[in-house]
Amino acid sequence: MNVTHTEAPITEIEVDAVVVGLPADGRLSPSAAAVDEATGGIITRLFERKEITGKAGEVTPLLAVGGVRAAQVVVVGLGKAEQFDNGAAFRAAATAARRLAAKERRQVAFYLDDDWTTPQSESGVCGAMAGCVGQDLYRAEKNRHPIGEILWAGGDEATTSSGRIIGESINLTRRLINEPPEEMYPESFAERAAELAGTCQFEEFVVWDEKRLKEERCGALLAVGRGSPRPPRLVMLRHMGGAKDGPLLALVGKGVTFDSGGLSLKPSDSMKTMKLDMSGAATVLGAMQAISQLNLPVNVIGLMGLVENLVSGDAYKLGDVLTARNGKTIEVLNTDAEGRLVLADVLCVAVDQGADKIIDLATLTGACVVALGEDVAGLMSNDQAWCDVVSKAAADCGERAWQLPMFAEYSQQIKSPVADIKNIGEGRWGGAITAAKFLEEFVDGKPWTHVDIAGPAFSEKDKPHCDGGGTGAFVRTLVEVARGWGG
Ligand code: BES
Ligand code: MN
Ligand code: ZN
Repeated sequence: MNVTHTEAPITEIEVDAVVVGLPADGRLSPSAAAVDEATGGIITRLFERKEITGKAGEVTPLLAVGGVRAAQVVVVGLGKAEQFDNGAAFRAAATAARRLAAKERRQVAFYLDDDWTTPQSESGVCGAMAGCVGQDLYRAEKNRHPIGEILWAGGDEATTSSGRIIGESINLTRRLINEPPEEMYPESFAERAAELAGTCQFEEFVVWDEKRLKEERCGALLAVGRGSPRPPRLVMLRHMGGAKDGPLLALVGKGVTFDSGGLSLKPSDSMKTMKLDMSGAATVLGAMQAISQLNLPVNVIGLMGLVENLVSGDAYKLGDVLTARNGKTIEVLNTDAEGRLVLADVLCVAVDQGADKIIDLATLTGACVVALGEDVAGLMSNDQAWCDVVSKAAADCGERAWQLPMFAEYSQQIKSPVADIKNIGEGRWGGAITAAKFLEEFVDGKPWTHVDIAGPAFSEKDKPHCDGGGTGAFVRTLVEVARGWGG
């Protein structure tokens, strides 16, 4: 997507649309004031009559406004000034862009950030890009038409450029999620990662195939993949922007390219959206793209465990006992609790690769969505300081995350009479946490934070700022963690 920086005055620029923001208190930014002045007070008048309220999600196109060269002025609500943060900046720009992208438009200039901070401007650029792209990949008649050129006023060149990089990464993540499962399966996901490795300068790009996964004793991941004719893969990308012996951050993603539940088959309704189950891996890949293109001076390894969870005569069974890479044995009592089995091996690989700290992202449990709702991720950790870092990064980006407890008592639930542990708790209660307690068995005591994105990774319905489908949530948070990474 073409995103450039502009210094042109808002009334002079000749584009299809200029976008200005209006907070709920009606206070005009310098750009909004310039439009207001050039038009004899059009914005103030509309605000006084309550035709425009400045509420978040509100978009008002003003067509053929005299005194302004652009074909239209779009006023987007910024919401309450005291609630305005990077998330609100992202959503405001996205809301305007999404509306404008309903038609083909060559150039749209965003004059939103007169008094925004640098991170707010960067978030705005990301939002403008995300708003232009929908889930209409296979529609002849497109719902969204990416704007030919996004012009971003204010801020500086560097902010526009970093915003563009992160915006591209968010859209990459969303696209991978939105592809149907027949297109996006372990091998094809690995091919997308290979394409990325061809354009970004990673120090290492490795794909483990089935044979290698066997040699590497990834018995849990392999068991999940056995029900599918499409073989599993493990993808590893290494960005070494820091000192040679500097600390290594590991990002681990769940990449179940379709989750039927296996023999513990999901009901049809719950299966409809289960192409989303590779969102963790897609988020890690998106973040790795951004980290590499931003040339961040840090060492980060991205690991993605890719399998398809299907049913067949060769599928893994209830009662099976699997041996994970670290030698722990697992009794399988539900083949739909497959994500934790995949992650078990991949977390072990992260440890073996020398990770100093680990973050994993996974659409792991419906229970997390029950606990926190669709828009909030669950954070679970074995190290409070590390959890605080992830939590602060999310808050700084305006992405919603909330910590759940990891009391030792929860571990009682995953004890098994026949193996070291079992892959489900006793009943449904606390299901997000018993899943995290399971994962904790595979990080060898390394500081680790688990982000359950089962809610926020995917939106079934359209929102004012985002078409339904993959959301790209937590790409920005991961980039933020990497920016602050120092071991
Ligand atoms: N991929 C699902 C979790 C999920 C559910 C993600 C809804 C997004 C939306 C996961 O593999 C799963 O099936 N979890 C089970 C665990 C249970 C069997 C212990 C669940 O949440 O029901
Ligand atoms: Mn499942
Ligand atoms: Zn799953």
